[in-house]
Amino acid sequence: MPDKSSNNAMDSLVGDLKAVVSPLRAKLSEIHRKYAAVNDGALADYIPELTKANPDWFGICLTTVDGRVFCIGDSGQTFTIQSVSKPFVYGLALEDHGREGMLKHIGVEPTGDAFNSLVKLESFGGKPFNPMINAGAIAAASFIEGKDEPTRFNRVLEMFERYVGRRVQVDMAVFTSERSTGHRNRAIAHFLLNFNNLGHALEESLDLYFKQCSLLVCAQDLAMMGATLANGGVHPVTQQRAIDPQYIKDLLSVMSTCGMYDYSGEWYYRVGLAAKSGVGGGICAVVPGVAGLGVFSPLLDPRGNSVRGILALEELSKYYELHVFGCHNNYEKLVNDCSRRGR
Ligand code: DON
Repeated sequence: MPDKSSNNAMDSLVGDLKAVVSPLRAKLSEIHRKYAAVNDGALADYIPELTKANPDWFGICLTTVDGRVFCIGDSGQTFTIQSVSKPFVYGLALEDHGREGMLKHIGVEPTGDAFNSLVKLESFGGKPFNPMINAGAIAAASFIEGKDEPTRFNRVLEMFERYVGRRVQVDMAVFTSERSTGHRNRAIAHFLLNFNNLGHALEESLDLYFKQCSLLVCAQDLAMMGATLANGGVHPVTQQRAIDPQYIKDLLSVMSTCGMYDYSGEWYYRVGLAAKSGVGGGICAVVPGVAGLGVFSPLLDPRGNSVRGILALEELSKYYELHVFGCHNNYEKLVNDCSRRGR
């Protein structure tokens, strides 16, 4: 005969355990477990230093606009931000030159081409289609103002520090690896110079771009950066303003239409969130008014987007109905799960 009193005790223990694990954390854990088993994709190897990443690394983090942090897996593991830096530097260039000022130099049209393609740059007279591809990002970096390169880079660094709420450093090994092998980026910069579309000297602009890509962040940082954008440009914890609020819709627009390169259309169709990926394996996504998401896993698909990152965000978006054009997009389910107590 089973002992009834021990069964009751077990039921109550299971009940207690369910109560202490927050439903959001439980969902993130389930997604993490499910996609940690996916080993598709490859490490970026065109920047030799990036091949040192551990293919098993996988972290997911969600941070709310009031600063609650939900992290799973390797969300504190640092990696280089790479192209996730692009919308943020574009934001600083917008602050320096205004919307119309930047539109003269960099468009806002998706290309449908690879992130490092040169094709449209030549065919369309040296004006990059958008600031999320390398051509547009190198141009944006060249338009950051300051009396010399160190001053300009310091402004970029301080801007990132306002978004993450802590000191940020350059991974010098990745920076030198990228600087010595970035021949396509060098070619892009020379094209821009040829078309008189660089704000400052070529080598300095390239160095600034390579450095911004080599900043060390973790998934938790990306979630905080997303949460800062979701929170109208104010860091949820430090309450420091990271960007002039008038430019947030510009960043979110280019992230939405161009942030995932030649997967941007399908990404928006399936996931429906402004997001930016990088070849370090990071993706930052924004749920306006609610939260930022940061995912990190260095195995990439052929377009340069994190395989597990896309799967995890797609499932989260579906489960919580986060698509900005969804019928129920007051994000009630997510807000509710964020508020329910538990570890
Ligand atoms: O310029 C490059 O190639 C890299 N520093 C950044 C590219 C990147 O992250 C593309 N992302 N998916």
